[in-house]
Amino acid sequence: MESNFDENLFAGEEPLTIFRRWLEEARKTEVNDPDAIALATVDEEGLPNVRMVLLRIIEDDAFVFFTNYGSKKAKEAFLTNKVAFNIHWKSLRRQIRVRGHVEKEDGVIADQYFSRREIGSQAAAWASKQSETLSDRQELIERWQSYQNEYKGKFVRPSFWGGIRIKPIQIEFWADGQYRLHDRFVWQRALGGKGWSMRRLYP
Ligand SMILES: Cc1cc2nc3c(=O)[nH]c(=O)nc-3n(C[C@H](O)[C@H](O)[C@H](O)COP(=O)(O)O)c2cc1C
Repeated sequence: MESNFDENLFAGEEPLTIFRRWLEEARKTEVNDPDAIALATVDEEGLPNVRMVLLRIIEDDAFVFFTNYGSKKAKEAFLTNKVAFNIHWKSLRRQIRVRGHVEKEDGVIADQYFSRREIGSQAAAWASKQSETLSDRQELIERWQSYQNEYKGKFVRPSFWGGIRIKPIQIEFWADGQYRLHDRFVWQRALGGKGWSMRRLYP
């Protein structure tokens, strides 16, 4: 059998460069939200929880998404200071799995990101008590409207809303292969460590 392994796909000195390259490809092929990740946390009981969020910034050494710090995901992320995420592109038949440690990004980067959002979305960040019980939708709309009236389009970032930075210690690249002979490469390093080690895994 001919091997359909594409060496160039996995080539790179360190994993974040490969991540960025795959995401750029996916931006051209995915129908929607190529930067949507399934973010996993665990609760006090150790019960896992997963939901989609948008991966908005890829830094030299970390990933950042934005959310409400009062939300379930943020509380759970900071309960253990650890999260994992998966990004899967159906159009490319590839996935990347990431595990890492988290920290708050509630400084300039969060301010800048918030200020670039549409005004309506800025108002929504103020209006939503994310993950709390909402008895009816009208209540949310009224809160959103009242923030719009109060701030008249001049919002500052709420202190309860901002970024969460994921500092990866493990990143695994997976690409579909014929007969389920897929390719997997996992990169690992210690927390705070610079040097990555990499190995191939059985599919
Ligand atoms: C494609 C997609 C992208 C999303 N992006 C975000 C996001 O960037 N930030 C966010 O707080 N919620 C986002 N959500 C909503 C979350 O999935 C989730 O419903 C919400 O954050 C509450 O989750 P929690 O109660 O576990 O905190 C997104 C949902 C989808 C389907």
